[in-house]
Amino acid sequence: MTENRHRILKRENNPHIFRPVKLRSVEARNRIMMSPMCQYSATDGMPEEWHHVHLCSRAVGGAGIVFTEATHISQEGRITPNCLGIWNNEQRDAFKRTTSFILEQGAIPAIQIGHAGRKASTSRPWEGTRSISPKEPGGWQTIAPTDQPFADWHPPEAMNSGMIDRVLDDFSKAARRALEAGFRLLEIHAAHGYLAHSFLSPLSNSRTDGYGGNIENRSRFIMEAIDAVRASWPNDLPLFLRLSCTDWVEGGLTLDDTVKIVRLIREQGAVDLIDCSSGGNDPRQQIPVHPGYQVPFAERIKRETGMKTAAVGLLHSPDFCEEIIANGRTDLVVLGRTLLADPYWPLHAATKLRAKNLLWPVQYERANIF
Ligand SMILES: Cc1cc2nc3c(=O)[nH]c(=O)nc-3n(C[C@H](O)[C@H](O)[C@H](O)COP(=O)(O)O)c2cc1C
Repeated sequence: MTENRHRILKRENNPHIFRPVKLRSVEARNRIMMSPMCQYSATDGMPEEWHHVHLCSRAVGGAGIVFTEATHISQEGRITPNCLGIWNNEQRDAFKRTTSFILEQGAIPAIQIGHAGRKASTSRPWEGTRSISPKEPGGWQTIAPTDQPFADWHPPEAMNSGMIDRVLDDFSKAARRALEAGFRLLEIHAAHGYLAHSFLSPLSNSRTDGYGGNIENRSRFIMEAIDAVRASWPNDLPLFLRLSCTDWVEGGLTLDDTVKIVRLIREQGAVDLIDCSSGGNDPRQQIPVHPGYQVPFAERIKRETGMKTAAVGLLHSPDFCEEIIANGRTDLVVLGRTLLADPYWPLHAATKLRAKNLLWPVQYERANIF
């Protein structure tokens, strides 16, 4: 029995993080989005019982948007051999019960799709996050804009134009399968040093053709990927893009560059929101981590490009989340580890902020005493 008691009441006196938001034809019941988080628990890219329970629990807990982890468009695009995929129809069909349960609970089922590029073929964090070379069992040859490796990992193969076309086609097919699987929101992963980010950053792209050099050329791959996805992802459904807004390395991608990239993407007209993350492309990065440390990226990009944004990174306090939404600094708050630690964070935050429009599931109503 999965009765949905979450009502969307457009009450002006509700806290801002609990007010609904319309994204094309989709309405999220609140501004709380669960961040994509790899679980490294799939075999052959298939969603398993763990993924179902993990994602559905956050929908029961009251998040407005529930994102899958990075779900890969091809086998070679996986970060680890145990990452999720959406490159075949079995994977597509296995997601269906999860997307329908999330919807029943009043949340939006969302999928992040991506290709790990030169950071593919690694072991899981609890096995050391080690590069697995193609010569080792379970490893494979990685690909990237150029053949510069990440740190001392095995060198990727530089992509020729046929390889680029194949990856773009994989993006398009993955988006089609995501739609058929019942997802209502899709995000392209172009952050954290994975394939699309490695095209954007001068630290990992020294190509001399139309995909390298100036910022317009370095943006070409992601803009083509966006077009490829939009060709099979319907116009009435929202599309997000996760960017690393800075490399945090001298000579790397900067926030100024990202503002220029987002202006190009805004002109393209296919993306609805920039999910503002950072780093991951160079081990020399120096990140001054503190609660909300990436909020200024979301704020500036929103202000200077007019694009909707989402802020992520050490968001935990309901009051702080409320402040950044109420003051229009960003459009969504994205919670990663906060929701790992407490799937019911949105319900607790609703109690704390006295929101009237997020109700505990009837089955759990007697727990609302704390
Ligand atoms: C276990 C774990 C797995 C992650 N996997 C992904 C991922 O698949 N895709 C992604 O874009 N970011 C991933 N991230 C980054 C988070 O989505 C988030 O941006 C980051 O943890 C900062 O937010 P937080 O402080 O709320 O956790 C992961 C983070 C963690 C902790």
